Amino acid sequence: MARREGTLENVVIESLEFFKKRRVLITGHTGFKGTWLTRILLLAGAEIIGYSLDPPTCPSLYALTDTGSRIRSIHGDVRSFGSLNETLYDFKPEIVFHLAAQPIVRLSYDEPMDTYSTNVMGTVHILEAIRKSSSVRSFVNITTDKVYENREWIWGYRENETLCGFDPYSNSKSCSEMVTSSYRNSFFSDPDSTAISTARSGNVIGGGDFAQDRIIPDCVRAIAAGRELLLRNPHSIRPYQHVLECLSGYLLLAMKQFEEKSYEGPYNFGPDEDGCVSTGTLVQMVFKEWGAGTWRIQGDGGPHEASFLKLDCSKAKNILEWRPKWNIQQAVAKTLIWTQGYLSGENVDDLTDRQIMDYFNI
Ligand SMILES: NC(=O)c1ccc[n+]([C@@H]2O[C@H](COP(=O)([O-])OP(=O)(O)OC[C@H]3O[C@@H](n4cnc5c(N)ncnc54)[C@H](O)[C@@H]3O)[C@@H](O)[C@H]2O)c1
Repeated sequence: MARREGTLENVVIESLEFFKKRRVLITGHTGFKGTWLTRILLLAGAEIIGYSLDPPTCPSLYALTDTGSRIRSIHGDVRSFGSLNETLYDFKPEIVFHLAAQPIVRLSYDEPMDTYSTNVMGTVHILEAIRKSSSVRSFVNITTDKVYENREWIWGYRENETLCGFDPYSNSKSCSEMVTSSYRNSFFSDPDSTAISTARSGNVIGGGDFAQDRIIPDCVRAIAAGRELLLRNPHSIRPYQHVLECLSGYLLLAMKQFEEKSYEGPYNFGPDEDGCVSTGTLVQMVFKEWGAGTWRIQGDGGPHEASFLKLDCSKAKNILEWRPKWNIQQAVAKTLIWTQGYLSGENVDDLTDRQIMDYFNI
């Protein structure tokens, strides 16, 4: 496998230049991560088409930054094979990032069927559309750190470990991994065919996340309302990272496997050890940085959630030469700078692009 030597900055900048004028399809572009990814690719000069339902929250980063006016945006459901297939056929993307999903664990307990149909059949549909197209050279399916069978290990899971998420969301993403693996083995084994990968990232934080039941938005809502934050599982350890960290991994992977198919496969993209902290510790950091906020444990622990979850990212570090760049303190600080800027009426476009340029040294 060909590998180039270089500093992290070189690798990251090289990956952005690579995207100039590339035809890129993003499913889930109206979501939190999808909007950040779209903004990076806009700055890189890519030609972008997005395929998604409406933004899942109101407000949303997508609407606040008016990102839809800067790309071709198709309002579509990944459960509808016909319109997804037509979008690929018409636009002829070279690279596809698949982020469209029902991504909330607790919602998956209320709506397991919708979660499975979107997360599993959505994956089948995008892969089938790629199989029928001749334009796509690089496909990255975004799954999650929760795809592994959780054994409450204190060390990180590796890519070759058993996939079997516990709750419907995690399990649907394990299924999405299996679907991707089957398509790669069955239909994309030819060396000239599309490179097919999955990316399993940690719990992301960053400005512009307004989802229910995610820790930073919950902290901000509690501070704004002047009420105590109720935490179900303050001792749960999770791999927390800034959203730009995992996105830089997805971009690097998409680029590397575009150039050399043998890079394809599953990859973990998580923080270094310092980012694997308990939910309570993360909340303390947010409240300290903000200068306000209190929390207490909520009696009922809610539906099952794992206590320990860490990722071993040796594969991405060794093969892709990917590295996390911002530690947990920087990730929290960047998130709060964005959030406080937004709340005080700063231009959200500028805030977002400035953080991207800072991260990628543009
Ligand atoms: N946020 C995290 O901490 C995190 C961590 C690991 C993995 N992920 C994964 O990253 C991806 C993006 O997550 P996010 O946090 O941006 O979620 P999000 O809820 O903000 O965005 C989800 C996107 O999917 C779209 N979507 C949902 N159902 C759809 C359907 N049936 N058809 C078409 N589009 C549909 C929504 O419109 C939205 O654009 C997901 O696949 C998620 O599982 C997220």
